[in-house]
Amino acid sequence: MDITQTYPNPAGHPGSGILARLLAPFWKEQATATIANSSGNFRREAHIEERHDAVGSTAEAPALFSLHGIGKTFNGGVRALHGIDLDIREGEIFGIIGRSGAGKSTLIRTLNQLERPTEGRVHFEGRDLLALDAAGLRQVRRRIGMIFQHFNLLSSRTVAGNIALPLELAGAPGEDIKRRVDELLDLVGLTEQRDRHPNQISGGQKQRVGIARALATEPRVLLCDEATSALDPETTQSILGLLADINQRLGLTIVLITHQMQVIKAVAHRVAVLENGHLAELGAVADIFTAPKQPITRTLLQEVIGNEIPPGVRDRAARLLASGEGRIWRLGFRGESVDRPALTEAAERFGLKINLLHGYIDEIQGTPFGSLVVAASGTAEAIEAAETFIRSQEISLEEIRL
Ligand SMILES: Nc1ncnc2c1ncn2[C@@H]1O[C@H](COP(=O)(O)OP(=O)(O)O)[C@@H](O)[C@H]1O
Ligand SMILES: [Mg+2]
Repeated sequence: MDITQTYPNPAGHPGSGILARLLAPFWKEQATATIANSSGNFRREAHIEERHDAVGSTAEAPALFSLHGIGKTFNGGVRALHGIDLDIREGEIFGIIGRSGAGKSTLIRTLNQLERPTEGRVHFEGRDLLALDAAGLRQVRRRIGMIFQHFNLLSSRTVAGNIALPLELAGAPGEDIKRRVDELLDLVGLTEQRDRHPNQISGGQKQRVGIARALATEPRVLLCDEATSALDPETTQSILGLLADINQRLGLTIVLITHQMQVIKAVAHRVAVLENGHLAELGAVADIFTAPKQPITRTLLQEVIGNEIPPGVRDRAARLLASGEGRIWRLGFRGESVDRPALTEAAERFGLKINLLHGYIDEIQGTPFGSLVVAASGTAEAIEAAETFIRSQEISLEEIRL
C-alpha cells in the first residue's frame, strides 16, 4: 500500500476516503500541499506491505506460553529482565519490541530455555519448563522452532541438507526425511535451490532455509529473533509475508522480536514493549498504535507514524497564529470516529476557520486511525466550544504550543 499515491485521489482508498469526508470543505485547497509536506513519513513505511489478511482472531485462544515474574540476572550482575508477566496465545503472532539491549533476546530465549531465568516461571502447553530434566527439555524443544538474524546455517550442507538436519538428529527414517524436506522446500519456495550451498543463495533465501529448518519437526511455535533485521526492506516484506502465510495456513504461533515498529505493524497481532528489562506496555497492535501510553512506545512509534510536526509546517502554523486569534490542534481519530464529519461540523457550528497543516491516515488490523494537525481560528469562546464538541465525538484533541 503506497499511501503517497492514494492521497491525491481520495476515491480509491478506504483511508483517504475517510479523510476526504472529514475534510470535505477543506480538501481541495489544502490537502494536497499538506500531504506533500508530510509524505516523508509515508514513504518510510510504504515498503512494508501490510499483511493483515493473515490475521486471525486470537482473543479467545488459550495461552501457549505463560510467563510469571520472569527475571534474569547474568553472572557478573547485569539484570536483563525484571518481573515479566505475559501470555502468548495459540495461533497469534506476538511481537516483542524494544531498543537494543532492552532484553528481547534474553526474554525469547527463556521460552525455549536457551536462557534459564533466575526468577519466575515459564509454562509451555501447561508444563513448567524449569521443572523438566534434560530429556524432557529436548522433547519440548522439538516443538519450539527458532530462527535468527544471521540464519545460522551450516555452510558445508546444501539447502536441502540444512533443512534435513533436525530430522536426522531426531532419528527420522530416510524416506520421511526426503518427503518432509520436499514439502518444506515447496512451502518456502526454494525447490529450485535445493542443491545449492548457503554461499550460493541470497540473504532472503537463507532466511527461508532457516524457516524451513525450524519447521522441520512440526513445532507448535516459531521464535524469531530479529529474523528480518539483516535484510533489505523488500526482502523483509517477503519474509514477513511468508511468516504471515505460515501463521494463517498452519495456525502456527509466532513470537517475533524486532527493534522495528514497521515489522510489528506489518504482521503482529499483539505486541509487548520492553524497556530496560521491564515490560512497559502490552496490547493489541491497533491499540498500541492508536493509543500508546508509555513514552518509550511513542518514541518507537515515531519511526512509523511521525509524531513530529515537520519544521516547515511548524513555521506555517506560527505565521497563521501570528495573523489572528487561533489555536493549533492535534486531533487523533480512530475507528468509527474517522467516519464522522466532526471537524466540518465544528467549523460550521462555531464559525471557525480551519486550516489543515499536517496529517496522515492509515489502517491497522481493519481499524482506521489517523492524526491531523490543524490551525483553528475564531474567537476564544468559539474555539473553546468547538473543543468541547470535538472531544464529545470521541476524537482526541491536544493543543499544540509552538
Ligand atoms: N550472556 C550474557 N552475559 C551478560 N550479560 C548479557 C548476556 N546476554 C545479554 N546480556 C546483557 O543483557 C541485556 C539485554 O540483552 P539482550 O537480551 O541481548 O537485549 P536485546 O536483544 O533487546 O538487544 C544487555 O545489557 C546485554 O548486554
Ligand atoms: Mg537481541
